[in-house]
Amino acid sequence: MQRSNMHVLTVLDHPNPDSFSAAVAQQFMSGAEAAGHSTELADLNAEGFDPCWSMADIEADDGDTAPSDVQKEQTRIARADAICFVFPLFWWGMPAMTKGWVDRVWSWGWAYDQLDDPEKSLQRPRTGVLLVPAGARSDEMETEGYLAALDTAWMKGTFGYFGFTQRDLQILNGSTGSDARRKALLNRAYDIGASLKPPL
Ligand SMILES: Cc1cc2nc3c(=O)[nH]c(=O)nc-3n(C[C@H](O)[C@H](O)[C@H](O)COP(=O)(O)O)c2cc1C
Repeated sequence: MQRSNMHVLTVLDHPNPDSFSAAVAQQFMSGAEAAGHSTELADLNAEGFDPCWSMADIEADDGDTAPSDVQKEQTRIARADAICFVFPLFWWGMPAMTKGWVDRVWSWGWAYDQLDDPEKSLQRPRTGVLLVPAGARSDEMETEGYLAALDTAWMKGTFGYFGFTQRDLQILNGSTGSDARRKALLNRAYDIGASLKPPL
């Protein structure tokens, strides 16, 4: 069987190396490696990425060179065929570090420039996966409409602009539950890494 090997960037947002989120990222990468892909970890907290959007970012939007830390992240993205975000669900959204990484790095003129067509990214097509540990149960998230809201905001609103032609949102519900539940979620993360689809 012919394999399509990819370079897979995993972007982890958690300050604790022993966290469930960190274990999810490791399992995902192990699965991707077992499938023959090369992997790279962006551990945003350990690396000390500054998530605060600043005047330098605004000036870059107006034509100046992007700040050097943003350029470094863009170089990392440029070599990736697939990107996996791992962050815990905080207040039904992204934690500040991931939010700031997205705001600053996927910038106007580099990632997108046409606000009228979400599918027109300046970036080449990529596979995008979100693995999001969450304390809530999946049925709660569905009945309250949170799942649909996140799916629209992230899969259509954010990652469509970024050229993710394959998109997979996986909420890892029950991440604070029993050991058996957490083990099942870690196995799911491995399987997702092992069965990554190439970009369309
Ligand atoms: C500040 C904060 C906000 C949170 N908000 C939510 C939330 O909106 N929905 C939810 O299901 N879980 C929420 N949680 C629970 C986390 O998603 C859950 O504990 C997750 O497993 C944390 O990741 P970790 O296990 O890697 O530490 C929140 C936790 C914290 C600390």
